[in-house]
Amino acid sequence: MLSGKRVLLMIGGGIAAYKSLELIRRLRDRGAAVTPVLTRAGAEFVTPLSVSALAGERVHQDLFDLTTEAEIGHIQLSRSADLIVVAPATADFIAKAAQGRADDLASTLLVATDTPVLLAPAMNVRMWTHPATQRNLTQLQADGLRLVGPNDGSMACGEFGPGRMAEPAEILAAIEAALAVGPLQGRHVLVTSGPTHEPIDPVRYIANRSSGAQGTAIAAALRDLGARVSFVSGPATVPPPEGVTVIRVETAQQMAAAVQAALPADAAVFAAAVADWRIANAAGQKMKKDGSGRAPALEFAENPDILATVSRMKAGRPRLVVGFAAETETVVEHATAKRARKGCDWILANDVSPATGVMGGSENAVVLITQAGAEAWPRMGKDAVARRLAARIAAEIG
Ligand code: C5P
Repeated sequence: MLSGKRVLLMIGGGIAAYKSLELIRRLRDRGAAVTPVLTRAGAEFVTPLSVSALAGERVHQDLFDLTTEAEIGHIQLSRSADLIVVAPATADFIAKAAQGRADDLASTLLVATDTPVLLAPAMNVRMWTHPATQRNLTQLQADGLRLVGPNDGSMACGEFGPGRMAEPAEILAAIEAALAVGPLQGRHVLVTSGPTHEPIDPVRYIANRSSGAQGTAIAAALRDLGARVSFVSGPATVPPPEGVTVIRVETAQQMAAAVQAALPADAAVFAAAVADWRIANAAGQKMKKDGSGRAPALEFAENPDILATVSRMKAGRPRLVVGFAAETETVVEHATAKRARKGCDWILANDVSPATGVMGGSENAVVLITQAGAEAWPRMGKDAVARRLAARIAAEIG
């Protein structure tokens, strides 16, 4: 429930603005109070009347509204909220926010407060993937703003791809996570998850059987304790959790770059099954049989070890770095040696030999290796492992 919480909802100018009406209804159903702000462009898509009727409060539109200014100044307006939600957040709004410009009510409110902000971007796919938009988002995330969505899908403009605003239910989940007053409130945690794909040629790749289930569960558990989570995921089979910032990658090299871009973080959990090797002589075109009967020789190059690199950072190292060790024999010995070799603080080790059914399954039996030694946890669901790990992380850095 969100009773006692006040959300300042800024509705930007995009066709997805109609979904914000549904969001207002859901927020109020959950007991939250909603202060609506409609931008000039937003008012082209939804009417002030429908917004204020659903919110049960007057809608704020103008920076220089003397009546409002006398009753409740715009500074007060933003500071009295527990969370500011911008939905839809257009490319233009994101650009203005990244620069700290304050030329209308909504942008001024953002600059006038340190209330946490959640953005639900919505725009055409080309606008979303444009380097300028991505640059602005990187800046805003570095400033501590949270993101929910956008999703992939067909768009009102007829194109297909990322840029669709998250659904009201997803935005609500992100709002609840942002407002959860958990022990990790105000902390940023980075989680890697899933396998990596290493291309052989444009249509073939080397992969592994990681489903991403454990990393996804860990990201959700950290979110539930109030952390802001950056989730760097390879091509996993389970969908990423809601209410976290998802950064999708394919290769180990892309994952390494995405991790560096997402830092600094208070803690980092490296749950991804990163390919140790990539194909050094990957073909630019699809490889074909040449009739000679000779098989192509693949050459391998070592991938960057992301965990070891972050663990050994001289400046800006997360306070707590957690690695995983998937072993098939003498788990504790191997994992203890790995902890020393990688330079991380903790290793969560598990036996992934086929008989255990861990790889791709719903349960896990892990041993936590810390400086103090090895601690075997009973076999439990991956969600329970995640919650227990998140609680330990909270105890360490919360
Ligand atoms: O060396 P190994 O792959 O067994 O180590 C597993 C741990 O190291 C996991 O936490 C995994 O996410 C991390 N790792 C990494 N980058 C690599 C290889 C492994 O971050 N290139």
